This record gives sequence, structure tokens and C-alpha cells, in this order.
Amino acid sequence: MKLWGGRFTKPTNELVDEYTASISFDQKLAQYDIQGSLAHVEMLAKCEIIPTEDAETIKKGLEIVAKKIEAGEAELTEANEDIHMNVEKLLIEEVGAVGGKLHTGRSRNDQVALDMRLYLRDSLVTLVELLAHLQKALVKQAKANLDTILPGYTHLQRAQPVLFAHHMMAYVSMFERDTDRLCDSFKRVNRSPLGAGALAGTTFPIDRHYVAEKLNFDGVVENSLDAVSDRDFVVEFLSNTSLIMMHLSRLSEELVQWSSAEFNFIELDDAFSTGSSMMPQKKNPDVAELVRGKTGRVYGNLMGMLTTLKGLPIAYNKDMQEDKEGMFDSMETLKGALALFAPMIETMEVKKENMYAAVAEDFSNATDLADYLVNKDLPFREAHAVVGQVVLHCIQENKYLLDLSLADFQNFSYLIEDDIYHVLSPETVVNARDVVGGTAKNRVQDQVKQAETILEET
Ligand code: ARG
Repeated sequence: MKLWGGRFTKPTNELVDEYTASISFDQKLAQYDIQGSLAHVEMLAKCEIIPTEDAETIKKGLEIVAKKIEAGEAELTEANEDIHMNVEKLLIEEVGAVGGKLHTGRSRNDQVALDMRLYLRDSLVTLVELLAHLQKALVKQAKANLDTILPGYTHLQRAQPVLFAHHMMAYVSMFERDTDRLCDSFKRVNRSPLGAGALAGTTFPIDRHYVAEKLNFDGVVENSLDAVSDRDFVVEFLSNTSLIMMHLSRLSEELVQWSSAEFNFIELDDAFSTGSSMMPQKKNPDVAELVRGKTGRVYGNLMGMLTTLKGLPIAYNKDMQEDKEGMFDSMETLKGALALFAPMIETMEVKKENMYAAVAEDFSNATDLADYLVNKDLPFREAHAVVGQVVLHCIQENKYLLDLSLADFQNFSYLIEDDIYHVLSPETVVNARDVVGGTAKNRVQDQVKQAETILEET
């Protein structure tokens, strides 16, 4: 007999049971569901809605059920639809009819919203920790590469040289904002919907704040209709995880490029690379590629949830059961990616000489030649045109700027003197960007220091 079977005259069609059940995935919420029930039943006793002895019996029963589920000894069935009813059935099996008092003043609608929030609360903490590990790995690479110069790109064309440390710190900044977003979302997640009942509240003299406090929430989701029907906190989570995956995916793409023979800027550790079943020479950056690829499913989970919620009337609708799989999937996908990325970044070999050699074979110091002329009072637009001519000449002669003689330079502008060789050297070019957040070594060191201060606190 179903927990809600009273008004029915026939058993549910088996296909309906199968199709509507969520137990195959929401069993992941079992421990949160029981945690919520423990707080609820204590409140029922405190408010004298049920006798204290009954509450004690139910609590003991719930603890046994929790252990059985954890040990894989409890039978969870589709006939009992979801984790909430499975737990209640198991409780009644354990303690008898008194177990039926647990659901007084409560609905699965406020219960499921509670379980989701408890799950996300833990998930947010986990992700913030994992992000900090990754940031620490990036900072470590930055510190080891404060003198490593590589070409900086725009349009994937060599633009201006930058420190590899600067490049690493750019990602540290992105992940810092991601951390901020997760922390900010915590305050919206951390409110208890329990007590909203099915949609309108309950006739029992419950104490919502007591339950909220027991479960370490900052307060309650006030409006009962809102409490059971909105999943904006899930959308926010899916959006934040999407942003993090987007950042990881860009870093992945760079690792893939850098480890190609064409770039040859890094080598990923053997422990974080894979081979080919046919081509014996291959060493592939599979982890980075797969993180880049899995970004798609995380975006998909966000779009799926937004679309499910679009146009849903309040309050609860069964559509909302679709809120869980995407949330679990995005969490597991991101958790896996972050856990791998920290050690993969930490162990990657940075091929400093190759990066430097690349800078020597490009025109990424051309802006500095123009700036040099500007400092000698030539208007920037004219300087730009002169340097364009110099670059064209070099391309025709198969040379780079530093290969030119002073006489060659002076054919283009008499303003150029022999300090130009110093001005155009990669070190000078990098250190000339001595503005807040620029790539000059001292500015990058400032970023490293700031990041270390923040990361020490986490
Ligand atoms: N399994 C349901 C879900 O995940 C629980 C809430 C069901 N409530 C209901 N009235 N059918 O959304």
C-alpha cells in the first residue's frame, strides 16, 4: 500500500511507478533527508505537537534507518517513489505506527526543497576548498616563473610579451571571482523552507525558526509558496558551476595548445596524460580535453533547469523533480575537474627556454618601438606608421627588429639611437608595463602577494 494510497481504488500502473519515481537518483539525498527529519521531529516534540517519547522513538528509528542506508542494507524501492517516502516506510518498519507521526505538519514539497539546500550547502563548501587548491597550484607556478617570458597573444597572433607568472595569475583572479560568487550564493541557499508545508503553511503550531536554527540555517524562506516552488538557488548553482567550467575550459584549451609540438611551451606530467592504442609516440592531454568537453554538459544542465522552470505556475509541480540530476551531475563533473586540475597544474613542466625563444622570433616588441618614438615627441599615429614600415622591411628581409643594425633603424627614423637594443629586449619590454596589474615583474609580484594573503585565510 502506498503512503498516499487511501483515495485510490487500484494500484498504480507499473510503468507509472517506474516513470515518476526519483529514488534512483534522489537516494543521494538520504542523509540530508534524515538530518532534516531529526530536526523536524525535535521541533514537533518541543512545540507539544507530538509526545516527547514518540519523538525519541522516531529519532532512534531514524538513526537506525540512516545507518542501514549508509551500509547499503536498506531496500529502496520505486514503489515508494522517492527518498522521502522510502525513509518514512523504513522508519515505520523499524518503529511501528508511531513512525507515521513524523510527517505531521510537513509535506514532501518543503522537505525536498530542504534536502536540496542541505546538499548544496555542503557542495558549496567543497567547491570553495577545491578552488583554493587550484589557485594555490597556479600561484606556485607563478612564483616559479617570475622571470619566464612568453609571447602574449590576441587573436592567437603574437601581440606583446608577458610573464608566464602574469598569465597564471590571470586565472587566479578568475577563480577568485568564482569563489566570491559561490560564497555570495551561500547566503541565499542557507535558508530553511521547512514549515511551508505543501504550499500554504500548516495548521499545527510549529516553530520554523527552531528547525532553522537546529539545522544551522541563517533563517527561513518566509513565503510558503515561494519556499516550495522556487528553485532559483539551483539555477544560481548551475550558473556558477557553468562559469567555473568556462574558466577551466579556457585554461584547458591553452594547455592543449601549449603541449602541442607547434607551441612546445609545456609538458604535462605523465601521470596526467594518456597514450594512444595505435600510435606509440602519442602523449595526449586527455584530462584538459575532457574538462573542455564536459563544460558542454554543465551548460546543458543550466539550460535544462531554466527551461524546466520557465512558465511553471506556483507552487510545487512534479516538473520540479527534474531539478536534481543536473545539479548532481554539475557538482560531480566540476568536483572531478577541480580535483584533477590542481595537481596537473602543479606538476606541469614549463619550458622556459622555448617560450623565450618564441619571443625572440616575433614582433611582439613592435609597440615598444612605437612608444620609444612617442617618447621622442613623435605623435603616436606617426610612430605607428613608421614601425609598420620597419616591420614590413623585416618581413621582406626575413629578420626581426633586434636583427637590424642602427643604420637600418635610422633609415626609418633619425630619432632612433643605440639604446634601442636595450629598449626592445624582452625583459625591458615586459618590465616597461609597470602599471597596476601590468606584466612588469614587480607588479606581478604584487599580485602574487595579494593572492597569497587571500589564500592563507582559506
Ligand atoms: N520526489 C519529489 C521531487 O523530487 C518530491 C516532492 C514530491 N511532492 C509531490 N507532491 N509529489 O520533487
